[in-house]
Amino acid sequence: MTGNRVFIFDTTLRDGEQSPGCSMTVHEKLGMARKLADLGVDIMEAGFPIASEGDFEAVRAVAAEHPDIKVAALCRATKLDIERAADALKGAKKARIHTFIATSDIHLQYKLKKSRQQVLEEAVKAVQLARQYCDDVEFSAEDATRTDADYLEQISVAVVDAGATTVNLPDTVGWSVPHEYAALIGRMVKSFGDRAILSVHCHDDLGLAVANSIAAVQAGARQIECTVNGIGERAGNCSLEEIVAAFAVRKDQLPFETGINLKELYPASQLLSSLITFGPQPNKAIVGENAFAHEAGIHQDGYLKHRATYEIIPPESVGVPEGRLVLGKHSGRHALNDRCADLGYQLTREQLDEVYHRFIALADRKKGVRNDEISGIIRQVIANAAAAD
Ligand code: KIV
Ligand code: ZN
Repeated sequence: MTGNRVFIFDTTLRDGEQSPGCSMTVHEKLGMARKLADLGVDIMEAGFPIASEGDFEAVRAVAAEHPDIKVAALCRATKLDIERAADALKGAKKARIHTFIATSDIHLQYKLKKSRQQVLEEAVKAVQLARQYCDDVEFSAEDATRTDADYLEQISVAVVDAGATTVNLPDTVGWSVPHEYAALIGRMVKSFGDRAILSVHCHDDLGLAVANSIAAVQAGARQIECTVNGIGERAGNCSLEEIVAAFAVRKDQLPFETGINLKELYPASQLLSSLITFGPQPNKAIVGENAFAHEAGIHQDGYLKHRATYEIIPPESVGVPEGRLVLGKHSGRHALNDRCADLGYQLTREQLDEVYHRFIALADRKKGVRNDEISGIIRQVIANAAAAD
């Protein structure tokens, strides 16, 4: 184990990007990768190179631009996939090949039509091949939480023996509950100890992805796979902002360290929202528009007397701009430009002019303009500019 340091493996650009409404161009992925670097993630999973030319290029370009950050490429446990991932990572200074195969009986029977023995052998062969290209190899047992635990242990130990440096046990369908997941992770940590890092990757189908990831870390996992705004397949993945904020705010209960710069959480969330087709829901913890809004009279009264009565996290500590609720028609271009930067946007002069005109038109009709309204204007202006190019 690595003490209490937990590695943050960001998969916004892969698991997040592959979900509906979230696809990004290589250029957009590069923009988001810069923000992930500001955030201080330990590993960026930039794509699934065999899936498309775009994914291949994204992995290559992100690795070229970020030599000091580990960049991962996903591949199935096949020769072709692994070689394509290795090719995309060829110039990378810090590379990881992330290979996976499903291990649950339901996937073996209906999807892969393979026996447990066959899958075990393919997993070992895949890791051995990946190790020929890269010293850092992660193996994921897809649908681990619905896999027979004895078989999961057998395959986990076998891939570590074959050279896997990280073993990821995903809750692929968001099936597990915290105490159950913790027991599974604890058993595997015991089984291969310090020989590999145990990673968790939780989906949010029952709204338990963050809780399950925390339980797993308490049981000995030291890598969390997560995404900005919790985007990802179906109900999404473990939300990066929620889990790192939980570690920061509840250190008394969760004495774990990450390398995340909390002040970049809100700008990262805003930038992602501008690149994909939706933002976080208003009541989303940490980054939602209402996460720090106090509406009820009793709450406002308590808050004004002492912030901590109703606020457990200072909004500025997670990068929420001060006074974010109101910019009005008397706000100048300069203040608006600062707010755009706080929201994660770098605008050209022409774009800022256009945003300013639309902002003033809206502010004329309303008492104050909220951040989500400003972000909406910016997104429209950026989209119009792209369409005109
Ligand atoms: O959810 C999952 O199992 C995955 C793996 C490919 C890691 O995304
Ligand atoms: Zn996933």
